[in-house]
Amino acid sequence: MLAIQGIAEAGSGHPGASFSAAEIMGTLYFRKMRHNPSEPDWNERDYFINSKAHSAPGYYATLAIAGYFPTEEIKTLRKMGARLQGHPVRYSQHQKHHSVPGVEYSGGSEGIGLSVSIGIAIANKLDGKKNRVYTLLGDGESNEGQVWEAAMAAPKFKLDNLVAILDRNRIQQDGFTEDVMPLDPLRDKWLAFNWNVIEIDGHKVEQIIDALNRANQIEDKPTLLVANTIKGNGIKHMTNNPQWHGKAPPRKHTPVLLQELESECLIAPSIIAGERENYEEKVRKAERGGADIIHLDVMDGRFVPNTTFFADTVRKLRRITSLPFDVHLMIEDPLKHLQDYIDARCDIITVHVETCYETEFVTIREKLLNSGISPGVAINPSTNLPDWIYSHTEDIDVVIIMSVNPGFAGQKFIPEVLPKMVKTSRKLREHGFKGYIEADGGIDATNLQQVYDSGARILVAGSAVYGSSDIHGAIIQLRHKANVALEKRLIEHATNIGTRSDWMKIRKHILIPLASELEIEGELHAIK
Ligand code: DX5
Ligand code: ZN
Repeated sequence: MLAIQGIAEAGSGHPGASFSAAEIMGTLYFRKMRHNPSEPDWNERDYFINSKAHSAPGYYATLAIAGYFPTEEIKTLRKMGARLQGHPVRYSQHQKHHSVPGVEYSGGSEGIGLSVSIGIAIANKLDGKKNRVYTLLGDGESNEGQVWEAAMAAPKFKLDNLVAILDRNRIQQDGFTEDVMPLDPLRDKWLAFNWNVIEIDGHKVEQIIDALNRANQIEDKPTLLVANTIKGNGIKHMTNNPQWHGKAPPRKHTPVLLQELESECLIAPSIIAGERENYEEKVRKAERGGADIIHLDVMDGRFVPNTTFFADTVRKLRRITSLPFDVHLMIEDPLKHLQDYIDARCDIITVHVETCYETEFVTIREKLLNSGISPGVAINPSTNLPDWIYSHTEDIDVVIIMSVNPGFAGQKFIPEVLPKMVKTSRKLREHGFKGYIEADGGIDATNLQQVYDSGARILVAGSAVYGSSDIHGAIIQLRHKANVALEKRLIEHATNIGTRSDWMKIRKHILIPLASELEIEGELHAIK
């Protein structure tokens, strides 16, 4: 969001590339690297070399949020006299006003960063230091001959302290990479140069963490992560569109773009619904249908009048998919069993506030955060969040608001929950909550719009998915409804700030398939 603000203020910049690498940079700075924003030159730090330096707005946003400089400074992007220039300038204590704290490498000319990284990695090895070096490479940048010279050199020096991450978004300044200069078979090429190669979805934080952990265990070889990414990810009309490689969005659209980034909605099939068991098949079908995450309802027959499955099942399912696991613990004494679920490698673990006091929750939250798992809290339809939650909002990633009484799939949605959802979302945001509101129970295509409008951004769907004979089709239908809900919201926002027709023009290709439900067919048709 900061990246978009900066680019729009500056009137120029690279939105597409900033978004394709957002999760990569975020994971490095907030989950993986050892670094110290108050001491950028700290001797023990890991290094991040942003070789594809044009993703600067996203890089600056990451550094600002990490604490290297104030977030407001993003507004000075590309301004005369400012330190945040279009291509970042390496930090120097002697040039405090002209260099950027946290930046290790002055970029601009493509193709050089990997060679610089090799220099740092060799120096660290010679000094017997454990610091690691992470380099972000572009796929367009990989046209440069120097990248391949560096690719040859790193294995020669057995640089197992070096990880290069290729932002494989398949689009460069002049078009699609495969038209400009084909890179495939990319994996085989790097393997032939004697690198350890791991391929991942570069927007899935859990896959990035897992790959970086694996890279850390490799000895005597550098690692290349091929991170498959989407240029412009997060803003639908910029997605995979070469036009937006280096073009700034009009400033008047900024508020709507920011709203879009906040309005992402995840579809989470709950596998306890439908025919009993056969969970593996259900997970596979959800993945094929395009679900975003898998919702796993753990019930112990005590907190709720039903028993489903436990950590051993979660562990088995973990092997068959890389989709994030959203584990909803409906059990008494969640702290007692927590470690089993941590070991089963869940991504979100949610506990009911009805099952723990503040002190227990704090222990649970610490354990989860230390294991790289997102903590969540859940409330029953008749419960409100206790006041103590509001002093922990910054460390909670998910709040589940139950829209049925927990225990069984296939119950009727309780509409009285909606006003509570609106109020709770608002109050949480006022207290700095930046995570997802999740609605759970009885959600289907008929009420999705209302649930979305009430603030929920993770939508659990059990029977609406597994009660259908066409699981794939059911997920697509829910996704379509979620898209309608999102576009409706954005058009309303654009209308309120007087940019309705401009917004619809820029968004036309996204809006066409939704036009009849949005009741804008005529208006859209009239736009040239
Ligand atoms: C209820 C569970 C829900 C539920 C979802 O206790 O937490 O996840 O099973 O299934 P549907 O959508 O059928 O209510
Ligand atoms: Zn649930």
